[in-house]
Amino acid sequence: MGKEKVAIIGSGNWGSAIAKLAGNNVKKHNDVFDDSKVPIWVFEEEYEGRKLTEIINTDHENKKYLPDVKLPENVVAIPDLLETVKDATALVFVMPHQFLGKCLDQLEGKVNKDAKAITLIKGVGVDGADIHVFADVIQDRLGVSCSALSGANIANEVATDRFSETTIGYRTEEEGKMWQKLFQTANFKVQLIDDVAGVSLCGALKNIVAVAAGFIDGLEYGNNSKAAIMRIGLLEMKHFCQEFFKDVKEESFLQESAGVADVITSCLGGRNTRVAKAFVTGNKSFDELEKEMLNGQKLQGIHTAKDVHVFLKARDRLGAYPLFDKVYHISWEGLPVAKLTEGL
Ligand SMILES: NC(=O)c1ccc[n+]([C@@H]2O[C@H](COP(=O)([O-])OP(=O)(O)OC[C@H]3O[C@@H](n4cnc5c(N)ncnc54)[C@H](O)[C@@H]3O)[C@@H](O)[C@H]2O)c1
Repeated sequence: MGKEKVAIIGSGNWGSAIAKLAGNNVKKHNDVFDDSKVPIWVFEEEYEGRKLTEIINTDHENKKYLPDVKLPENVVAIPDLLETVKDATALVFVMPHQFLGKCLDQLEGKVNKDAKAITLIKGVGVDGADIHVFADVIQDRLGVSCSALSGANIANEVATDRFSETTIGYRTEEEGKMWQKLFQTANFKVQLIDDVAGVSLCGALKNIVAVAAGFIDGLEYGNNSKAAIMRIGLLEMKHFCQEFFKDVKEESFLQESAGVADVITSCLGGRNTRVAKAFVTGNKSFDELEKEMLNGQKLQGIHTAKDVHVFLKARDRLGAYPLFDKVYHISWEGLPVAKLTEGL
C-alpha cells in the first residue's frame, strides 16, 4: 500500500494549529505518510495588504488566524479546494461548520475513492426533525469513511505545545491508529474510542454549555453557579446523545477529553464563553461581538443552540432540555439573561 497523502481542509485558528502537528508528524512517521507536502486549503483573503496564502507559504505562519506560531515548511497553502485534495488519501476537515455544505458541494465525486477522512468540526446538521453529526454527513456525501476528533483543545495552547489531550472517535481501529499517528505528540495525547457520534456530539453540544457559562460570567454569579451550569450542561449533553443516537458510549462523557474536559476548558476560557459574557455586559449583538472580538474567527455555540432548538421543537422534546432551551431563547429571542437559571 502507498503512503498516505494528507490534505487539510480549513485554515483558521484550529486548522492552522493542527497543520503544525500534522506537518511535523508526517516527517516523524514517513513510513506511513508522504512527508513531502501537507496541502492546506485556505479561503483566500487579504491580510495586511498581502494574500493569506502568500503569507503562509513565504513566512510559514498564518498571521491572521494563528499569529506567532511557525508552521513546518511542508505545510503548503492552496486557495483552490480541488487542487488541495488532488491525490489525497487522508482528508482532515477543520473549518467553521457554516462553510462545510458549500465545501462538500465542490468535493462530491472529486475525492480519491480510497481516501479516509476525519472531521474536527464542531456542530450538528439539522433538518427539521432530522439530526446528523458531520462525520456521517461527510461520509455519506463523499463516500469515504469518516472519523471524528474532539477534545479540550484551545488551539493556541495546542499550537504552543502545552500539555493537552484529545479524543478520536474512529470508524475502524486501524483508521483510528493512523489518525493518532498524524496528530499525537509528546504534549498532545490522542485517546481512541469506537464512538464517532458521541465524540462529535460532545464537541457540538458543549459549545451551548459554554455560552451559558459566559452568561453566568456576565451576570457575575460566581463559581458555584458556573460549576452547576457545567454539571447540568454535561447531563443534558449525555441525555441528548443517548436519546437520539443509539450506541453512544458512556465513557465518552466522563473518561474522554471530548466529554467533561472539553466542557470545562470551554467554560473557563473558550471563545463562546468570552463572547457570551460580553453579550451580557456590553449591550451589543452577537454579530457585532463576533466581528469585534474574534478577528475573523467564528462563534459556534449560539448557532448550535439554534440548530438543536429547531430539532427538539420538531421532536416535541424541548422541555427535557431546559438549559439548551434557555441559551437559545436568550441568544435569539431576547429572553432576559437573568432568566437563565430559572427552572433548572
Ligand atoms: N479554535 C479552536 O480553539 C478550536 C478548537 C477545537 C475545535 N475547533 C473547531 O474547529 C472548527 C474550525 O475552527 P477554526 O478555529 O479553525 O476556524 P476559525 O473560527 O478560526 O474560522 C475562520 C476560518 O473560516 C474561514 N472562512 C471565512 N469565511 C469563509 C467562507 N465564506 N468560506 C469558507 N471559509 C471561510 C477563514 O478563512 C478561516 O480559515 C470549528 O468547528 C471549531 O469549533 C476550534
